[in-house]
Amino acid sequence: MQFRTIIEPFRIKTVEPIRQTTRQEREVALREAGYNLFLLKAEDVLIDLLTDSGTGAMSSAQWAGMMQGDESYAGARSFYKFETAVQEITGLKHIIPTHQGRAAERILFGSALKPGDIVPNNTHFDTTRANAEYRGATALDIPIAEGRQPHLLHPFKGNIDLEALEKTITENPGKVPLAMITVTNNSGGGQPVSMANIRSASEICHKHGIPFFLDACRFAENAWFIKVREKGYADKTPLAIAQEMFSYVDGCTMSAKKDGMANIGGFLALNDDALAQECKNVLILTEGFPTYGGLAGYDLEAIAVGLHEVLEEDYLHYRIRSVAYLGDKLISAGVPIVQPTGGHAIYIDAKTMLPHIPQNEYPAWALSLALYLEGGIRSVEIGSVMFGLQPDGSEKPAAMELVRLAFPRRMYTQSHVDYLAEVILYVNEIRSRIRGVSIVESPPVLRHFTARLAPAQGS
Ligand code: F0G
Repeated sequence: MQFRTIIEPFRIKTVEPIRQTTRQEREVALREAGYNLFLLKAEDVLIDLLTDSGTGAMSSAQWAGMMQGDESYAGARSFYKFETAVQEITGLKHIIPTHQGRAAERILFGSALKPGDIVPNNTHFDTTRANAEYRGATALDIPIAEGRQPHLLHPFKGNIDLEALEKTITENPGKVPLAMITVTNNSGGGQPVSMANIRSASEICHKHGIPFFLDACRFAENAWFIKVREKGYADKTPLAIAQEMFSYVDGCTMSAKKDGMANIGGFLALNDDALAQECKNVLILTEGFPTYGGLAGYDLEAIAVGLHEVLEEDYLHYRIRSVAYLGDKLISAGVPIVQPTGGHAIYIDAKTMLPHIPQNEYPAWALSLALYLEGGIRSVEIGSVMFGLQPDGSEKPAAMELVRLAFPRRMYTQSHVDYLAEVILYVNEIRSRIRGVSIVESPPVLRHFTARLAPAQGS
């Protein structure tokens, strides 16, 4: 007998209490935080879906690994364990640990980009974009057209537009020092990229002599989608699929806070000897010696074990299903979300849900505030507050106004998800009462982290 219920493939050994607050307390907390969920005290949040980054629960094997951390400054045993784990999956030659993903981006872009360059990607994550722009380069997003339509069903909405990729390369000779694909496409709805798309992008880049990189943060989730959605992969293991994905690239940046199952860490991996040497020199300057790269030996141990666990089929099956479980409940209640559901998060389409709020009053931000106020849920806006501010200081509305509910790995159970659904359905019912917001104070880059907002005038 094959039973239908997909269970959490673990049991819980340690628990951490979470705290209920009243609506009135949350109203005060919001005001004090300048209506910015990043500025809340985490204790005032009941269910924290701000990010799946570094927020997951580690396994007993990871904790045990941490006790074996070798804290030697140079040549630590833990580094070699970490290097072996990364090499088994990626097959890449030089493995450079960093304290998290954005450090890998900064080091790579610092060495590979110059002002005026263009970096094509399906969709850059905000730190990737900011690091490219910091170097004076243009971060060009070229997802397939289907990827920009929240309600359209497509198995691989994260795919890069191959024609646009080739056009960018041929029309800008000497100006595209590398191209990237982000798996899964976080800013585009957590949507996967097919193996065929990765392979073709790689062929295009290599035909023109351009190195091709993966932003590999959620490589295991992407591998699972390839397994269940792409012809020819059903019988392959997630490890074999991941290995094939990496076989097409010249390097990758990685945040081990996602599919590394760790609370901190990342790496840059690449084949080019000269570029690797240059990156290691910068690493020593800013992160640490190349066998620890800003991490403790025990962090490297946790990542080495995590990279193994993240590719277990039972885990990935449960992981992707638990996100789809919430998605199914929302879809059947008519809540507009990005479909099909992605790997690590649900993305509510706030533009469709709140048509009465114009984009310059940030509908997705307003919705994220309402979810906190009504149910103590913390989400994140992926819309015009995050992406609207241009490098020249002008404002351009984002392509989509999304609220992301990101699931920390192995953290919440089904009853938490049932509660979430109840809150979101309630907020959907009262949506006509939600009002827009305006920005009161804002830093010049990555403004969503620290900006202060207020209910829009007249709201
Ligand atoms: N690339 C992608 C696709 C990401 O999602 C992130 C982080 C990074 C790079 C940077 O990695 O945080 O370790 O420096 N995303 C988190 C998120 C913060 O909430 O989606 P990092």
